[in-house]
Amino acid sequence: MSINRSSADAPLTPSGVPLPKVTMPALGEMKRQGKPISALTAYDYPTARLVDEAGVDLILVGDSLAMVVLGQENTLTVTVDEMLHHTRAVRRAVRRALVVADMPFGSFHGAIADAVANAVRFVKEAGAEAVKIEGPRVELVRALVNAEIPVVGHLGLTPQSVNRLGGYRVQARTADAVLELQADASALARAGAGVIVLEGVPREAAAQITAALSIPTIGIGAGSDCDGQILVFHDLVNLTFSAAAKFVRRYADASALFRSAIEHYREDVEHRAFPSDAESYHSTAGKAMGAVGRQAMSSAAPGEDFDSDEAVVNPDAFEDWPS
Ligand code: KIV
Repeated sequence: MSINRSSADAPLTPSGVPLPKVTMPALGEMKRQGKPISALTAYDYPTARLVDEAGVDLILVGDSLAMVVLGQENTLTVTVDEMLHHTRAVRRAVRRALVVADMPFGSFHGAIADAVANAVRFVKEAGAEAVKIEGPRVELVRALVNAEIPVVGHLGLTPQSVNRLGGYRVQARTADAVLELQADASALARAGAGVIVLEGVPREAAAQITAALSIPTIGIGAGSDCDGQILVFHDLVNLTFSAAAKFVRRYADASALFRSAIEHYREDVEHRAFPSDAESYHSTAGKAMGAVGRQAMSSAAPGEDFDSDEAVVNPDAFEDWPS
């Protein structure tokens, strides 16, 4: 299996020029120029690679991986080590997008020095280019930025607060709550946050906050007036095994595609329709084989032998084959 990447894999403009690396300052520039920011989550090499090659600007290794990848009930149980493991895989895949790692529940709720040390691990051990912090943790954001770690804030419906909020409910539904949210967003921006995710808030509230901030907002369930949008990858392609929230748009049905491929494969195995002879390696050492081996050999194409290049479907697998 080949997974090596070169800088030639960077996404291209329509005229074939590689798109420049996205940085936190570049996202601020996009807001100033009125260019919408696209963002998606990813948690592993293949999906991160697809997302990056499609030209998405920001890839978040979200703690939503607890639910959509690890099958947990909420995001509270995922650990720093699990998040690091997935962030490393994403980092290996990405050439252009800004890679942001979500700080999981418990990793930034104690002493600021401990939270900074955890954030440093995401940069040093996993290659994250920014971390995301849920809630209005202004002092922590200031400390992270002082430690040269770019920060994405996250306000509104913060899933790590599910027990305090009593469920996943739309936030900022009153004028006072909108003002409070706006004050939190402004405080995070003043502390140095480069971007703020607004989740589960009325469109009008998100529009007001977006207009008031000099840094970009990225909405999820926050309407179309944010400076950018983010969705969970598994929601986008229907791999979540649950009803979609109102704000999710399903762009593909990967469940149906994968299910059909897997069922087809199982049927082929059960009917001995896979592998075919062309998908098999052959040996010239037939004389040393028993009757069954000689019979299998006799159905091989003439001249096909173990060393034949045509017989090699996957060169890396062939390297593993004893000669
Ligand atoms: O963990 C996550 O996926 C997120 C996004 C939904 C913003 O925080």
